[in-house]
Amino acid sequence: MYQTWEELERDCLLCEKCPLREGRTQVVFGVGNRNAKVLFIGEGPGEQEDLQGKPFVGRSGQYLDKLLASVGLTREKDLYIGNIVKCRPPHNRDPLPEEQDACIDWLRAQTALIKPKIIVCLGRIAAMKIIRPDFKITKEHGVFYEKNGVLMMATLHPAALLRNPAAKPGALEDFVRLREKMEELGLVAPETFPDEPCP
Ligand code: URA
Repeated sequence: MYQTWEELERDCLLCEKCPLREGRTQVVFGVGNRNAKVLFIGEGPGEQEDLQGKPFVGRSGQYLDKLLASVGLTREKDLYIGNIVKCRPPHNRDPLPEEQDACIDWLRAQTALIKPKIIVCLGRIAAMKIIRPDFKITKEHGVFYEKNGVLMMATLHPAALLRNPAAKPGALEDFVRLREKMEELGLVAPETFPDEPCP
């Protein structure tokens, strides 16, 4: 197991474990606050992420930042964000099970360094890998489960919300629940937010 972020990042950036290495511009390691107690997990880099080397920097990432801002959270201060696979799948297809299996140890090592109290899965793919293989995102989003002493919740993927805006208010509710849970655990100070329209 890795003792330092520097060693982990150095090795991860050189990864050759699966064929996704062939199509990548670069490995997308992760961003955010390495001392935060909340870990967000997405599926895998898209085009912008592959170009810029950071998770969730395209359109869906901008929407994610809006949802976070609605409940007074920022990625820089309150959380760390990583993906199940660190290299972009061709044409943004879902990462294959064998690609996820090849990559998951990087995320495990990141998780071991962060020691999160809360894990939030962004979308179906992350929820099925991290929470339960038969996870049903439409029914179970916003519900907290405890696994190995960590609270885990999934919300709809921001890209799915951009495709289906009718689902946005439900996702905002998930972020309100996350904020409440963080307050309950003393990770952020209690605060009330104005009832603004769902972004
Ligand atoms: N979608 C993801 O799941 N992860 C990213 O980093 C970007 C888009």
